[in-house]
Amino acid sequence: DKYCVIMAGGIGSRFWPLSTQKFPKQFQDILGTGRTMIQQTYDRISKIIPSENIFVITNKEYVGVSHQQLPEIPEENIVGEPLMKNTAACNLYMANKIAEKNPNATMVVLPADHLILKEDVFLQKLELAFNLASENEYLVTLGITPTRPDTGYGYIQFVEKKNAEYFKVKTFTEKPILEIAQSFLDSGDFLWNAGIFIWNIKSIHNAFETYLPDMTQHFMACDYNAGNEQSCIELIYPKVQKISIDNGILEKAKNVYVIPAYLGWSDLGTWTSVYENTEKDKNQNSVNQKHLLTYNAEGNIIHTKNNKMVVIDGLKDYIVVDTDKVLLICPRDHDQLIKDYVLDLKNFK
Ligand code: GDD
Ligand code: MG
Repeated sequence: DKYCVIMAGGIGSRFWPLSTQKFPKQFQDILGTGRTMIQQTYDRISKIIPSENIFVITNKEYVGVSHQQLPEIPEENIVGEPLMKNTAACNLYMANKIAEKNPNATMVVLPADHLILKEDVFLQKLELAFNLASENEYLVTLGITPTRPDTGYGYIQFVEKKNAEYFKVKTFTEKPILEIAQSFLDSGDFLWNAGIFIWNIKSIHNAFETYLPDMTQHFMACDYNAGNEQSCIELIYPKVQKISIDNGILEKAKNVYVIPAYLGWSDLGTWTSVYENTEKDKNQNSVNQKHLLTYNAEGNIIHTKNNKMVVIDGLKDYIVVDTDKVLLICPRDHDQLIKDYVLDLKNFK
C-alpha cells in the first residue's frame, strides 16, 4: 500500500517576517492562489493516495490549524510533536506509526511548503519512485536541475547511466558553503535534492538502525498501539538528537537513488524564491500591492500591508517587507541570513 507523510513542523525562518513561529509559511497562501502551501501539497498527493493513508507530522502547536486546513484527513493522522527536533525524528516516528498499520508499506515523504507547477510530471515520477522503492532496498529522492549556487539545498552527485530514468547517488552534500555549491554547479554533475523521499518501511528502518542507532533505540520504547503513545513520545523527544534526515541518513547511506524530475519546482523557502515565482513590474520589482510609487527602483521585492502607501526612490535588489510588527530591509542576496536575524532577535531585549 502507498502512504504519504507531509512534514509541516518547520517555522520557515528564512521567510520571516511573513513566516513566523505563530503562523509559519506552510499554513499561508503565499502566492495568492486561494489554497495554502499545505493544502496545495495535499491536493497534489490526494490524486494518488487515499486520505486515510495521508499523515501530517507537525509541532503540537500546529495540529489545530492543520486539522482546520485539511478536514479531509482523519484526525488521528495529524500528529503533533512536543519539540522541534528537525526531520530525522519525525521520519522515524512516522515510519514506526505506519509500520503498525502495514509493515510492507511504501511511503512518500513530502515537505509542506513546495511549489510544483508540473503536477502531471510529479505524479508520473512518483509512480516510478513507488515502483523502485517497493521492490528494492532503495532510498529514493527526486532531483532538480540546479540554476544557481544556492547554499540552502542538498546537492546530489549521481552515477551516470545513459538514457536511464533514475541513477545511483554517488555523493549527497547537504547545504554546502557557497564556494563548494558553485563548484558543484560548474561541474554539471549535480542535482538539487527536492526533499521528497520515497522508501519502504524496512529500508528506512534499516537506515535508521545503521546511521542513527541511538534514535532508533529511544523510539523502540514506544508502543504505538498501546494507547500511551502521546505520553511516551513526550518522554523520548527531549532525548533524541536534533538532526535533519539529510544530514543524518541521506549523506551517509549507500543505497540512495535519484530520479531527475522537471517539476517546475521551487522550495518557497526564501524571498528569492518568491521573487522568482511572482509577476514583476516593468522594472523587475516583485510587488504585492498597488499603493506604491517607485522611482529608480529595480529588482526589489516589496511586500507591504495593503492600503499602506509606500514610496521608494533609488533602491536596487532589496527586500522590503512590512508587517504589523516588523519592518525588514535587506539586500536580496542576503536572504539566507534572515534566519540569523531571527536568532539574534530572540536575544534582543
Ligand atoms: N514535523 C516536523 N518536525 N517537520 C519539520 C521539522 C520538525 O522538527 N523541521 C522541518 N520540518 C518540515 C518543514 O516544515 C518542511 O516542510 C520540511 O520539513 C523540510 O524542512 P526545511 O527546514 O524546509 O528543510 P530545508 O529546506 O532547509 O532543506 C531540505 O529541503 C531542501 C529542498 O527544499 C533538505 O531536504 C535539502 O536537502 C533540500 O534541498
Ligand atoms: Mg525548505
